[in-house]
Amino acid sequence: MPFNPELCRNESEVESKLIVQYLLPQLGYTPDTWHQEVILGSIRLDFLAFAAQVVPFVLDANSPLSVVMEAKHPKQNLNNHVPRLRHYLTSLNVRYGLLTNGKEIRIYEKLQYDLQLVFQCSGKEVETKIEEIKDLIGRDSLTKKEVPLNLLIENPKTERQNSMKTIAVYHNKGGVGKTTVAVNLAAALRKKGNTVLLIDIDSQANTTFATGLIKFQFDEDDDLRDKNVYHLLEAGDFNFIPDIIRNSHYFNNPELDVVPSHITLIESQDKLTKILASRSRLITKLKRVEKDYDIVIIDTPPSRDLYAEVALMAADYLIIPSDLKPFANQGLPTVKNFVAQINESREVMNKPSIKIMGVLASKISTNAKFLQYTFPKQRDVILERYNLPLMEAVIYDRTVLSECMNQTITIGELEYPDPKSVIKYAEEVKTNAQQSAMEFEVLADEVLKKMEVYE
Ligand SMILES: Nc1ncnc2c1ncn2[C@@H]1O[C@H](COP(=O)(O)OP(=O)(O)OP(=O)(O)O)[C@@H](O)[C@H]1O
Ligand SMILES: [Mg+2]
Repeated sequence: MPFNPELCRNESEVESKLIVQYLLPQLGYTPDTWHQEVILGSIRLDFLAFAAQVVPFVLDANSPLSVVMEAKHPKQNLNNHVPRLRHYLTSLNVRYGLLTNGKEIRIYEKLQYDLQLVFQCSGKEVETKIEEIKDLIGRDSLTKKEVPLNLLIENPKTERQNSMKTIAVYHNKGGVGKTTVAVNLAAALRKKGNTVLLIDIDSQANTTFATGLIKFQFDEDDDLRDKNVYHLLEAGDFNFIPDIIRNSHYFNNPELDVVPSHITLIESQDKLTKILASRSRLITKLKRVEKDYDIVIIDTPPSRDLYAEVALMAADYLIIPSDLKPFANQGLPTVKNFVAQINESREVMNKPSIKIMGVLASKISTNAKFLQYTFPKQRDVILERYNLPLMEAVIYDRTVLSECMNQTITIGELEYPDPKSVIKYAEEVKTNAQQSAMEFEVLADEVLKKMEVYE
């Protein structure tokens, strides 16, 4: 009887019957050249096979000559696992990834930030196609393949120098996860070696709090009141970004720069509204630091006020976090109208229209039934009814996200806020935060890829 991986009934049978017993030996990988359940930082691979070296291995310039293999349950749709595979290959600098649920086998090749599907067949066809698979990822043929130069470039920063990109995180619906996304996306991008500036332009100052800048307990110790984002907008010829920024110190490793906000932004709005130039001051001030940062992330208020306008005027890209529930959806036409109106003003200034990266599913329940039946429908609605692109990454509802934001430290008698990004929290605590940290890393990869595509 021919080998039929379609008969695999669950994920571990896909792993044992298809990958361990059939594919790895057929492709020439001896047991000392592959490893199962490889954990590298926050990444957990099902299988990693090496063409050019034996276990124990190092991931270095030779690692492109290796293959990641991921096994999924036969009921899983492989499309849903591509973003994560992309994250594995791009962060580990591995050239090929095989993804299978037994019913289908796909092989992806890593490009700079993206993946390209280079082979696909059904489980039934695997025996007849094995030579084709061998040509791509067989141990012998991989050893002979030259590593393209672009796979060896480790630090994406070198190519993006002098082309700072600004991303606004905006939705007029409150509480959909804008701040959580803004701070942790900034942390994930920073961790990948980008220089990042995070701007808080919401009077609630949640990003300012979340990055550890509100350490004072009493009004008289408030050192943000006279030096915050308002002061950037208030004047054209002084109060530049380097004068206002704070270092996020313990929030993330590496640290990042933050333009803080303040509750007094509410009362200051009237003053700014009268100054027409205040709407473009963030643009001109950002221009002066364009050599200092790769990426600027702006957290915005849940409204259509002047501050939201300033943020969208300055941004190249827009991410719209949404829990995909009815109220958030019903706000989407308002977001679109607002963007259209902003684009009119941008045209007057000869600034191209804002590019919508997409609606980002955020605070999404991890309930299996919900994910199987409701979530796919909620996702479809975004494009079908609201005609907006949906991002591939998903930020799930994880209590650890508020936990890491609400860490405290006690000094003497007093307790001070000591928030952490989920990325740093995962490194330090190493338990329940890893899943969530990984979701932000996947989001960061998608953001980097989308910015490349638009170049
Ligand atoms: N993915 C998530 N999982 C669990 N809790 C989350 C998640 N995202 C946000 N939250 C929690 O939901 C609440 C609102 O989140 P957040 O402040 O990020 O939303 P927001 O859109 O910035 O709100 P606002 O419109 O008021 O600025 C916070 O308590 C936050 O900790
Ligand atoms: Mg917020």
